[in-house]
Amino acid sequence: MKTLHPVTKGLHGRLIVPGDKSISHRAVMIGALSDGPTEISHFLTGDDCESTINAFRALGVQIEQDGERVLVHGKGISGLKKPTHPLAMGNSGTTTRLMMGILAGTNFTSELIGDQSLQRRPMERVSIPLQMFGGEVVLSPHGTLPAKVIGHQLHHANYQMTVASAQVKSALIFAALQADGPSTIIEKLPTRDHTEIMLRQFGADIKTVDHQRIIVRPQPHLRGQAVEVPGDVSSAAFFLVAGAIIPHSDITLEHVNLNPTRTGIIRVLQKMGARIVVEEVPSAGEPLGNIRIMTSELSPIEIGAADIPSVIDELPLVALLAACAGGQSKITGAQELRVKETDRIKTVVTELRKFGVTVTELADGMIIEGRQEWAEETVKLDSYGDHRIGMMDVIASLKAHQEMLLANDQAINVSYPGFFADLSLLGGKTK
Ligand code: S3P
Repeated sequence: MKTLHPVTKGLHGRLIVPGDKSISHRAVMIGALSDGPTEISHFLTGDDCESTINAFRALGVQIEQDGERVLVHGKGISGLKKPTHPLAMGNSGTTTRLMMGILAGTNFTSELIGDQSLQRRPMERVSIPLQMFGGEVVLSPHGTLPAKVIGHQLHHANYQMTVASAQVKSALIFAALQADGPSTIIEKLPTRDHTEIMLRQFGADIKTVDHQRIIVRPQPHLRGQAVEVPGDVSSAAFFLVAGAIIPHSDITLEHVNLNPTRTGIIRVLQKMGARIVVEEVPSAGEPLGNIRIMTSELSPIEIGAADIPSVIDELPLVALLAACAGGQSKITGAQELRVKETDRIKTVVTELRKFGVTVTELADGMIIEGRQEWAEETVKLDSYGDHRIGMMDVIASLKAHQEMLLANDQAINVSYPGFFADLSLLGGKTK
């Protein structure tokens, strides 16, 4: 349980946010499938990425870790060994779904297990399209973990996706890499493209046409690389929003990944009229920048299905921004939130109501009545075991009129183990 104090004098200072979670996972995975060493710096040390490291160790890959430095001794695309025990995915949907695509092409059977939250999340969205490539994943009768992945020689396919999901797309790309000919994967909407970008860096032949059609040539000779993981815009987002909504604030977040498939939150802040300055800095890999945010007067916003993928993990924060805006905001087309670490439509609505915010729950989103001043109805907040809900609660509590309490705060370690330390660097207080 954490005690959260309101902030009266604003948040100030500069932060280097932790490494990007999506890119950290992929660096270990692609490094493991490559020949030779992959040296990763600014790796995210959160629980989710540790699940990925541990899974590859269990598959016979030697991985050395010293904090944010990770050295993966790659085994090549067909070098994984049958594990002697079920692979523990913890809370990590990304590890689970991407691993299914990797393991589908091995010559052994492996089992995947997860924590309570992960065991409730849908996995047929991966197992069904994998069948098109000759993959075989046996799920529970509910279409969830535990899963058995029975390895086969995969074949090429052309597949039109039915969900907008980078996790599903990436699983299919990993399967296509192990197939017997070129495959095409067509996205429902463009989603984060870190898998494609990193695989190209490691020597794979992957083309993206019209942002949505991905053509994968199989059996590449992947070569280990040096990967410097950029700062995670999804982690920076908590402090961007804090800077905008807490009076007298002025914060700069450094070396943040500005890949346009991820920066929907910056566009939302700009549309709402926030005082935000984005300055690109030179980078050898994905685009990087420093972002300055100052206390802002916010206008309401409407966002719909086409906007969702680039802001999917930041929607709890969009709801929080909307709760501080001058008028009514609406989020629709966001039904994917129902199958995240928690049902994030339900958990966001429940938590915002505790601050006295008027929110209407929709099947695929919410309507939020924004106002300057809130009147808390209870001091008892809960992350429900969901890292992003826990951090949204903490940021909202900075605006409260009294101390608030956060239950299940340890969930925050999933993606941002240094979150409370970074908050205190900027002037926030928690116990
Ligand atoms: C991720 C993709 C997104 C995102 C998740 C990370 C990834 O999930 O919500 O936090 O690294 O590919 P979906 O693909 O299910 O939308």
